[in-house]
Amino acid sequence: MKLLNRFYQVSSSTLTHSFDASAYLLDTDEGLYLIDCGTPEGYAKCLANIGSLGYDPRQLKAIIGTHGHYDHLGAAALFKRDFGTQLWMHALDRVQVESGDAIKTTAAILYGSVFTPCLVDRLLTDGERLNFGNMELQILHTPGHTLGSVSISLKTSRMVVLIAADTLYGGFSPRIGSDEELWKISLDRLCGMNFDLMSFGHCSPGLVTDVATRLDCARRSFAIYYNPWFKDFAQQYTY
Ligand SMILES: [Fe+2]
Repeated sequence: MKLLNRFYQVSSSTLTHSFDASAYLLDTDEGLYLIDCGTPEGYAKCLANIGSLGYDPRQLKAIIGTHGHYDHLGAAALFKRDFGTQLWMHALDRVQVESGDAIKTTAAILYGSVFTPCLVDRLLTDGERLNFGNMELQILHTPGHTLGSVSISLKTSRMVVLIAADTLYGGFSPRIGSDEELWKISLDRLCGMNFDLMSFGHCSPGLVTDVATRLDCARRSFAIYYNPWFKDFAQQYTY
């Protein structure tokens, strides 16, 4: 599904498999990249989506991982096995991905599945800018959902897109390394930045407008975890 020029969504719970988080294909002047890649269950359909857009997965250079969870990076080992695709991600989620930690990757506890371990080829650091010619990706370390969670500020010639992944509306559990105080700081940081469009990990395919309002709404609802009487996020998240 085309989102912007040379920027596509190739995975989601409706595009590929119900387990899958959002994943994106970037056609840059420096080659093809994925942001996240979904699960093994959605792998074949993800490949079909890439092919239907006219791209060859053998040309993929790297998966830029937002964090070490099964629904975002469970298929990374398959991409590496089949196409030699590298995996880039933040150091603080590296161990769980390289060891296939059943709990911290959420594979066993949420999906009843196995996270195939995958070696990380490059570590992403906060503030790092990946200049791909027609696109520049700035890595924003936004811990909270997991300690190694990153958001990505994707800058094209016309606009800036926030890929927030599970830093927005992700689940909270100490078992997966969630940290409430760090998460608040991360949300404050995103609220203080300017974006034209955004996406997050579990939403309908597409990009959200009115980003400042939506980020502020997310920030203010963060403490909802303390009150079981509030409506859940899915009910609140309407436009
Ligand atoms: Fe997650």
